[in-house]
Order: sequence, then C-alpha cells, then structure tokens
Amino acid sequence: MKKLLHVIATPRGDESRTLKVTEAFLDVFKSRFPDWSIDELNLHKEKLPPLTLKRVDGKYALLGGKELSGEFKEAWQEIIVHIERFRSADLYLISTPMWNFTIPYTLKHYIDIIVQPKYLFRYTGAGVEGLLKGKKMVVIASRGGDYTGDGSKFDYQEPYLRAIFGFCGIEDITFVVGQPMEMGQELQSKKLEEAKASARSAARGLRLG
Ligand SMILES: Cc1cc2nc3c(=O)[nH]c(=O)nc-3n(C[C@H](O)[C@H](O)[C@H](O)COP(=O)(O)O)c2cc1C
Repeated sequence: MKKLLHVIATPRGDESRTLKVTEAFLDVFKSRFPDWSIDELNLHKEKLPPLTLKRVDGKYALLGGKELSGEFKEAWQEIIVHIERFRSADLYLISTPMWNFTIPYTLKHYIDIIVQPKYLFRYTGAGVEGLLKGKKMVVIASRGGDYTGDGSKFDYQEPYLRAIFGFCGIEDITFVVGQPMEMGQELQSKKLEEAKASARSAARGLRLG
C-alpha cells in the first residue's frame, strides 16, 4: 500500500489556518487515491529525540564514512525509527505556518533528525547525491504577512524547504501558500478560500506512479 506522510508543524489544531487549507487538499487526495494510507506525524505532539552529544557524534562518524556501532548505534535507535518512517513514504505533505520568516523550530528539529548521511543523502566522487530521487512533496503554508513581490526577500521558508529536501533528492515540490492571514478579517477569508482552491487544484494535478 502506498503511503502519504503528513507532517504537521503547527500546534494550533482546529484553530490552524494552515490545516484548513490542508483539509481541502486531503479531501480531493482521498477521493482520488482511496487506496493510499495516510500517516500523520504531528510534531507538536510527538516527543522528538534531542540531538545530544552522543547522537551528534554518531552523525560525525557517518560523515567520516564509518558505520554506527556500540553506544552510538544505541543512541541512534529513535533517530533511525524517524528516518525509516520518512523514507518509507511515497509522497510527503508538510503543513507549516511561517514563524519568524522561516519554519517553526519543531520542523527544523525534525529535519535535523532525519537528514542524515547514508540515509537521505550520500557523498560520491561526483559530489552529493540525494537518496530520495523521484519522490514528490506538497508543502501547505500560511503566513501572517504577504511575501509576494518585494516581500519575497524575507521569505526563508520556501527557499529553505526547497533547498534541504532538494538536497535529499526531492525536487518535485509544490507549494500552496495562504497569505496574508493577518491583515484584516475580510482579506484573510478571501485569501484562505483562494489557498483552499489552489490546494484542491494541486491535489487534482498530482501525478503519482
Ligand atoms: C511564533 C510565531 C512567529 C510568527 N512569525 C511570522 C512571520 O515571521 N511572518 C509572518 O508572516 N507571520 C508570522 N506568524 C504568523 C503565522 O505565520 C500565521 O498566523 C499563520 O497563519 C499561522 O498558521 P496556523 O494557524 O496554521 O498556525 C508567526 C506566528 C507565530 C506564532
């Protein structure tokens, strides 16, 4: 069975604007792909393993071309579980608000856990190779302000997510952004509806092998 991994990076549950847009995406997705399973990972509910000295040392061992063994291997067990959960997905959906021009710390923490050498990328004689080539991602974001036009220079959310997941081989990333969400109720409602329409259209346009 194919799997969509839905990573949620807002703590706001039913109040979340991002998740309202996501709901529109998922309604269409579920009707188009009823056989897919949806694995929901809520980063504000999940207790992510901290990157302790031992875990970071494990990363340096991998970067140095060594295998994980002994205490490093043990310290990495929880990390491996997250990496395997991520790697086993066929499609990714990330629901994230913008926080301080970029992603919330929980999503950064998750990225710091899963983006690991030998698992999501590797070094070859020709440079870095992403190991998730061919997989697709949809990012649904919402923002208080408007980062189109001149505002785009403050957007460290979309370029960062494209860079880090592109580094892992995920090049096909569709962004659906609701903005501005905090410049008046009327504009918010209008932009939220527009974002929902874009989310439905993104789900209708998905070509999955
Ligand atoms: C800690 C924090 C930081 C934020 N930083 C920004 C920001 O830099 N730029 C912006 O446009 N909105 C910012 N916002 C507003 C949120 O992006 C906006 O309200 C968004 O729609 C919230 O999505 P949600 O309802 O799904 O949580 C911030 C909100 C919080 C709580």
